[in-house]
Amino acid sequence: MRLEGKIAIVTGAGKGIGRDAALAIAAEGATVVAVARTLADLEETVRLIEEKGGKAIALSRDLTIGEQVQSMADTVVEKFGRIDILVNNAGGYPKEIYNNIEHQAIKIWEWSEEQWDQIIKTNLRIPFLCINKVVPVMIKQRSGDIVSVSSRMGRIASQMGAYAVAKGGIITMTKTTAIQTQEYGIRANAVSPGIVDTPGQRVYNHSVGQDDAKMGRSEDVAKAIVYLLCDAPAVMTGQSVDLFTTV
Ligand SMILES: NC(=O)c1ccc[n+]([C@@H]2O[C@H](COP(=O)([O-])OP(=O)(O)OC[C@H]3O[C@@H](n4cnc5c(N)ncnc54)[C@H](OP(=O)(O)O)[C@@H]3O)[C@@H](O)[C@H]2O)c1
Repeated sequence: MRLEGKIAIVTGAGKGIGRDAALAIAAEGATVVAVARTLADLEETVRLIEEKGGKAIALSRDLTIGEQVQSMADTVVEKFGRIDILVNNAGGYPKEIYNNIEHQAIKIWEWSEEQWDQIIKTNLRIPFLCINKVVPVMIKQRSGDIVSVSSRMGRIASQMGAYAVAKGGIITMTKTTAIQTQEYGIRANAVSPGIVDTPGQRVYNHSVGQDDAKMGRSEDVAKAIVYLLCDAPAVMTGQSVDLFTTV
């Protein structure tokens, strides 16, 4: 119970990596605020946490909208008085994007502006807005821990265009956040997984014709997140833990 008494926001906690991160963090004693748009998914995450004796609440927000992200931070502070942990996980290829993506390797000159903007909005704007609205609370507390979920696609030469650019951007944003917040006792790190078996990834695999892709486990990503929150040295900030999840 190394996170006993901590208040942890986990974005995208309705399924996949976010749900497993929420479960793992709650198992360490933190109270989890599970955030995504679909309330039914969040309520199931809360149920799974409570079933194991943990504490959690569900908060439905569209995190692409600044006002809703601000309201998430305000609601958590009103209810619990603080925000100790932000797991900046929401992202991926949500259903509104699939209609526009028929294959993985869209050439840089083929992207439409609309496709590009949709993916950047979901994968770079969301984590930026969450850091932007939560860090002022952490600065007042003079403590806080942020773990953002990047991707192996943001670490290599990738065919995934806007998604890879957004995920690479998360690494740079993590470093910027780390150097600007260390003096307030805040750490910002990232995890960068390879392909992970999640509901979102299964839909993506199907839409790009790679149903047979080898996938890793979201529980392993959750373990890496808990490592950064519980075991990593206090001076470890601005880093990405790169996970070869499919090995
Ligand atoms: N699976 C992989 O292979 C893999 C590998 C590397 C990195 N990642 C990253 O890991 C993170 C989680 O991926 P996953 O595979 O677990 O995805 P997933 O199964 O599709 O789950 C994504 C979660 O994010 C939430 N979300 C999406 N858009 C949102 C919005 N506008 N506002 C609030 N919540 C939103 C979704 O809920 P709602 O739709 O209900 O809002 C859902 O709870 C993503 O950042 C993804 O890029 C995944």
